[in-house]
Amino acid sequence: MTNIVLDTRQPAALGGAPAFGEGLPLVRPTLEDRPELVACISAVLDSGVLTNGPMVRELESRVAERLGVDHVVAVASCTSGLALTLQALEATGPVVMPSFTFAASAHAVVWARGTPRFADIRADSLTLDPADATAALGEGDGPATAMTATHVYGTPCRAAELQAVADRAGVPLVYDAAHGLGSMHQGRAVGGFGTAEVFSLSPTKVVVGGEGGLVTTNNADLATAVRLGRDYGNPGNYDCVFPGLNARMSELHAATALHSLSRLDEHLLRRHELVSLFWDELADLPGLRGPTLEAGDVSTYKDLTVVLEDACGLSALELARALGAEGIDSRRYYSPPIHRQQAYRQLERRQLPITEAMADRVLSPPLWSHMSDVQMRRVALAVRQILSHAPAVRAAFRASGGGGS
Ligand SMILES: Cc1ncc(COP(=O)(O)O)c(C=O)c1O
Repeated sequence: MTNIVLDTRQPAALGGAPAFGEGLPLVRPTLEDRPELVACISAVLDSGVLTNGPMVRELESRVAERLGVDHVVAVASCTSGLALTLQALEATGPVVMPSFTFAASAHAVVWARGTPRFADIRADSLTLDPADATAALGEGDGPATAMTATHVYGTPCRAAELQAVADRAGVPLVYDAAHGLGSMHQGRAVGGFGTAEVFSLSPTKVVVGGEGGLVTTNNADLATAVRLGRDYGNPGNYDCVFPGLNARMSELHAATALHSLSRLDEHLLRRHELVSLFWDELADLPGLRGPTLEAGDVSTYKDLTVVLEDACGLSALELARALGAEGIDSRRYYSPPIHRQQAYRQLERRQLPITEAMADRVLSPPLWSHMSDVQMRRVALAVRQILSHAPAVRAAFRASGGGGS
């Protein structure tokens, strides 16, 4: 029934009724079984230990077990976890990293007194290109002190190739795994690659704590340094050994994250189903694709990401605007890329042609773990409707003074 109504109607950008009159948000945190979660939070409040206590220890050990890593250090956010990790690794010079990632990946480098040196991404996976990372490591003022890569949208990076690049340059490799809790690469869980990986538990992620981050590593010295760093650099006697942060995770956030983590496999499965449903609905449309996964790899699908090639007839900005008219929220992750943002424009500039092109072509429509099939099908059908009227939609936007290429 829904299909028939949508198939015969005009896109809202051309005056049709919106697909979601009530609006559809980009993301919603999935926290079911509320009485169980509330009981757990209530027990934390009763315990009188509100931060960095038994819940945090439990979360660290559950994550270590799931990911098969020796050390997990829970922190207040992925940003602080990245900064503390890079500080511990003394990455105080140039750090080779993608520009096609969230700004916090670069902010962490700067807070650790390093300088981002941006390298390009691969057009297929949208993850750091090992060849351009190699080039970036050999260029610029002074030798690089570290390399970082992001499992962007949950797509695992090419870990073996990146490790070889980092090893040849003699620098540590740190993954921004903000999106990757649940991703698998070559049969291994994301979390055990590189010198360290750092996850986020913020509300847009698949495992949510409200806020929070997790540093995972097999390097005991690094884990010790990050543990100290999250607590001001205070070894316990108030004689701080270096200037750390307050980056402790609260017990309330750890309780929420444990609850969410216990449902991770169900949520991963559901996201996979929803993403498949979206692409099945649009399989015959030219010029649309998602980021490519290597054979056997698993993405968390933190986002449902669409790359719009010329053949689809609209730019990502135009499609975002037309979806907005349908009541469908979307985000152009990662546009602008970091090197074009005000905070970073003054940095030495390498050519990043794939980053530039992809930043103009990507769009993430809504996805969350308890989204219904009907909602996802309606999103896909709205995309189909809009693209099947692409010339008219473009002309209408141009006539109204808002282009969008
Ligand atoms: C790729 C990436 N890195 C880092 C972060 C920062 O995470 P947090 O908000 O936990 O500090 C985010 C947040 O969305 C992110 O998307």
